[in-house]
Amino acid sequence: TVLVVDFGAQYAQLIARRVREARVYSEIVPSTMPVAEMLAKNPKAIILSGGPSSVYTQGAPSLDRELFEAGVPVLGICYGFQLMATTLGGTVDNTGSREYGRTRLTVAKASSTLFEGTPSEQQVWMSHGDACSAAPEGFTVTASTELVPVAAFEDDGRKLYGIQHHPEVMHSTFGQQVLEHFLYRGAGLTPSWTTASIVDEQVAAIRAQVGGKRAICGLSGGVDSAVAAALVQRAIGDQLTCVYVDHGLMRKGETEQVEKDFVAATGVQLKVVDAADRFIDALAGVSDPEQKRKIIGREFIRVFETAQAELVAEAGAAGEDVAFLVQGTLYPDVVESGGGTGAANIKSHHNVGGLPEDLEFELVEPLRKLFKDEVRMVGQELGLPEEIVQRQPFPGPGLGIRIVGEVTRQRLDLLREADAIAREELTAAGLDRDIWQCPVVLLADVRSVGVQGDARTYGHPVVLRPVSSEDAMTADWSRLPYDVLARISTRITNEVAEINRVTLDVTSKPPGTIEWE
Ligand code: XMP
Repeated sequence: TVLVVDFGAQYAQLIARRVREARVYSEIVPSTMPVAEMLAKNPKAIILSGGPSSVYTQGAPSLDRELFEAGVPVLGICYGFQLMATTLGGTVDNTGSREYGRTRLTVAKASSTLFEGTPSEQQVWMSHGDACSAAPEGFTVTASTELVPVAAFEDDGRKLYGIQHHPEVMHSTFGQQVLEHFLYRGAGLTPSWTTASIVDEQVAAIRAQVGGKRAICGLSGGVDSAVAAALVQRAIGDQLTCVYVDHGLMRKGETEQVEKDFVAATGVQLKVVDAADRFIDALAGVSDPEQKRKIIGREFIRVFETAQAELVAEAGAAGEDVAFLVQGTLYPDVVESGGGTGAANIKSHHNVGGLPEDLEFELVEPLRKLFKDEVRMVGQELGLPEEIVQRQPFPGPGLGIRIVGEVTRQRLDLLREADAIAREELTAAGLDRDIWQCPVVLLADVRSVGVQGDARTYGHPVVLRPVSSEDAMTADWSRLPYDVLARISTRITNEVAEINRVTLDVTSKPPGTIEWE
């Protein structure tokens, strides 16, 4: 394991991902964890992340010197670099000039462990106000910039390395190479963490946890629950039953995809509950987004509980053997709930496939250590269909929160058609992977005048909301090619009666969220 010590901001997750892209397993730990505890994890290397603090201010996160004396290779990045410098006797001060963004780095020593094979002048990404002016004793300065005399240093004997720039962001042209040099050359690690090894490891862990008992899994049609279910199925076969609640707010073809393609690929036992009427009835007359979300969440839990009770009953006397619930929890959720500072509640996110809190099940969470892209790779390794593995994110409450206004069957049908057309055209244009997702939103309470076939129309608009994003926390609106937009617009207005206008949302997040409700 490589430990990534998190000094705040969002750098640590990105670093952990880059290390894994180098096929080395990495885990994030908070900087408040005592050094003894970090070392007890027996790390093969430690990376100190950047962070928003300044090393010389009161109360800034610090590290026990012991960390640098344990014989474990350490790489300090940005704040981590400055902390390494000050802890070991170097000098860091406020130069008064900030370096932010793309910066030219000059490599001073071609034989450097970190920079070998990279150009003597290279573009890096900087983000700091303080700078290191003197390296600690025993260290060689390996790079500088116009403003910073000590932009990188290393002590190969002690296996300690530091860089001021952020190798984890793509604007650092040789960033990944520098990281890999630290991992392979500095720490002597080998790239052995592969999807096949993840599957083997998880299958063994699931078997050990579940034993001869039974497990159930809520399938949402999304990537995470599908891959979690497929992994557990690989491990325990028919001891697993999946439950899929069709709330009637799904997109076109989604239920069929789960019923046919997923089952065909995995052979999993599946129970499909058709609860569309129940959900749509419960949503009657409701326009408020938060209220819709709450209703959908509540109904989902009720239906899911009933299905569980039936399964337990079907298992007969051995009912108590149904002891495990499979969840598709991902690593970012785990990290965030570990150190979260209670962000404002922007929306009540509801994970369909999520669990009622008072259920007496032990959780099986085979994706707890994985990032989304890794989950997709595991899904591929398990032979899941592309349509499922490469699916774009879709909110648990489904189309229910993409109809601005009351949700009715007729409106759902309109939106399903429009959404299917947009998806078809984006796929045909080969844009699926370039965009994060493209919600289609029906403005059900808005009407506008149009003309079609020489006649007046008075229909509803839909909004296309294509966005690009890395993690959905922030997003930019996607600059889709005009011809693709034109095809989507023409087809929707031609093929979906009642929709006479297609508009494009050109708002980033923030200030807009990705979904409209
Ligand atoms: P927002 O609209 O908050 O969405 O910018 C961020 C991402 O989350 C998805 N989303 C949800 N996913 N349950 C989910 O499982 C929800 O209730 C939910 N609401 C939004 C949204 O599609 C986007 O990918």
